[in-house]
Parts: sequence; C-alpha cells; structure tokens
Amino acid sequence: KPIVLSGCQPSGQLTIGNYIGALRQWVDMQDDNECLYMLVDMHAITVRQEPKALHNACLDGLALYVACGIDPSKSTIFMQSHVPQHSQLAWIMNCYTQMGELNRMTQFKDKSAKNVTNINSGLYTYPALMAADILLYQAKQVPVGEDQKQHLELTRDVATRFNNIYGDVFTIPDPYIPEVGARVMSLQDPLKKMSKSDDNQNNFVGLLEDPKKISKKIKRAVTDSDEQARIYFDTAEKPGVSNLLSLLSCATGTSIADLVPAYEDKMYGHLKTDVADAVVAMLEPIQAKFTELRQDQAELDRIMAVGAEKAQMRAQQTIDKVYEAIGFVASP
Ligand code: AQP
Repeated sequence: KPIVLSGCQPSGQLTIGNYIGALRQWVDMQDDNECLYMLVDMHAITVRQEPKALHNACLDGLALYVACGIDPSKSTIFMQSHVPQHSQLAWIMNCYTQMGELNRMTQFKDKSAKNVTNINSGLYTYPALMAADILLYQAKQVPVGEDQKQHLELTRDVATRFNNIYGDVFTIPDPYIPEVGARVMSLQDPLKKMSKSDDNQNNFVGLLEDPKKISKKIKRAVTDSDEQARIYFDTAEKPGVSNLLSLLSCATGTSIADLVPAYEDKMYGHLKTDVADAVVAMLEPIQAKFTELRQDQAELDRIMAVGAEKAQMRAQQTIDKVYEAIGFVASP
C-alpha cells in the first residue's frame, strides 16, 4: 500500500480550515493507503507557546484526530517529539537545504513579519524539519492544504538532490491537495487563509467551539460590498461570499454549482444562516466523540504509545539507510 503522511501543528485549536483542507482527506485515505498522522509539536515551538496551552493542544489534537474519524487501528497516530528520528534526519536535511531556498518560503516571510521579536532559526529551517518528517517514512502522498504546497516542493527538491548524490535513498513525495476547500479563508479577511493562531478570534472557527459562538462568528463574516448583493462564486470579485459558498459545499457535500441557483433571489443573511447551520451540524458528531475520548487519558496514552512504536520502527530504517549513504560509521 502507498504510504501517506501528514500532520497538524498543535499551535492552537484546530480549525475548520485544518479539517476541510487536511483531516477530512486523511480519513478518506485510510483504507487504501498505509497512513501515518502526527501532531507536529516540534514545528509548533517555532512560535513561542505557553507550556500548559501547548500540552493541552497536543492532547486535544490527538483526541480530535480520532473524533474526526482517524482510526488508530488503521492508521498510525503519534506525537512528532515521541519519535527522535525526526530530529536526527532534520539535521541532515538542514545540511542539504540551501539558504536561498529557505529565503523564498512565504510562510517564513509571513510569520517573521508578524513576530519580529522572535525570528528564530527553527522558524527559518522549518521546511528542513518538514522534509525530514515526510522522507523518514518514504511517504508517497502528502495530503496538505494549498498553503503547504511550497514546502512540499522544497521537500521534493531536497530529496531529489540527495538521491542524485547517493542513489535512491528517498521516495519523492507528491502533494495531495483537495479540489474544494484547499484554502479556507479567514472570516473577517477573506483574502488571507484561516489560521488557528490568528490574533483575531473572529477570523477562524475552532473545531471545539460552542455551536452558538460558531453561528455568531459565521453570521458576522465579511461579505462583499459591491452594489448588488448577489450571491455567486468568484474568488476575485466576491472573496467573502465565495468562501461562504465553499464552506457550505464542504459541509453539505453539494457542489458549489448546484448550490448557487438556490440563492438567486436571496440575501447574504440567508446564506450565512445556512452556512452556520451546516458547519454546526458537521461539527456536532466530532465534538461529541471528542468530549468522550478526551476524558479517557489511558486510551489517549495507549494510542500514543502504539503510534510512537510503529513510527519509530519505520523511521529507523530510513535513518540507517541515510547514515550509511552519507558515510557515517554504524554504531557498534
Ligand atoms: N485555511 C486552511 N484551509 C485549508 N487547509 C488548511 N490547512 C491549514 N489551514 C488551512 C492545512 O491543515 C494542515 C495542518 O496545518 P498546520 O497546523 O501544520 O499548519 P498551518 O498550515 O500553518 O495551519 P494554521 O492553522 O495556519 O496554523 P498556524 O496558525 O499555527 O500557522 C496542513 O495540511 C495545512 O495545509
């Protein structure tokens, strides 16, 4: 079976952007692939995190993975920091990644512009750790949202460079980007993507938020102030309305083309109410399952232990291969 790998940062509460752009795809891929899904806690600390909040976000994330439909008996679920091979390979990837390549990464540019007091080297070399995450498991498919495409291309470049020097050490991964929902936009600023670490809480919908709060946020979403308040899909002319239509499509499973005619004579308020109801309905079973599992620490521990062991076994094979290829002496 092809190997699939992906992860979310526990840098806040996972959002409907993470769910629609990533997690939902992960669930669908479980039957036909060998899937590994991690919480990338090591990536999260490239931005300063409050220890208690990080700790809780890791456990919340784990319980959310399962609540969203990732089945620990089918997929390997683990914390990145429980598998030391990520750090080992990341160092090596750092030595094969050019500064010129890292300089071009838009996520680094965005995050360093936003946080000028903590532009640390981990933030800068984040893509080398991400390359290690993927290459460690010889993953073929990497389901990601549109925003991660650039990092994945860098992974491909670095892996190809490495293979050209040392032979076929790494599988070259392909991005797997959903057609609809690859880029869920901010509710208040629909020209930028929805992010869990956004300072403005009204910009995102967290997967664990109270349904009333979710409705309120969606009903307050920015629509477009053109002369005619018509509802149609056009991301350039109507970014706010288009984002709402995409959300509705993702939450209901109806295509945007099939949705639009029903709104011909309707007002923005109608659309917002429908989106709010659909998003709340989509999250209801997830929240119920989450609440149950999050209270069962023994079960969470069991899932993490099994996942880490499986991941480590696979990861070590790649480390051995890489160490040998570059000329490190095997530890006696
Ligand atoms: N708005 C989004 N629309 C579609 N997909 C998204 N993803 C994130 N935001 C959207 C996808 O979710 C997966 C996990 O992302 P991540 O947690 O590793 O980091 P991120 O891409 O930086 O997500 P955030 O929410 O914006 O986190 P912060 O605010 O901490 O930086 C990825 O597959 C991503 O594409």
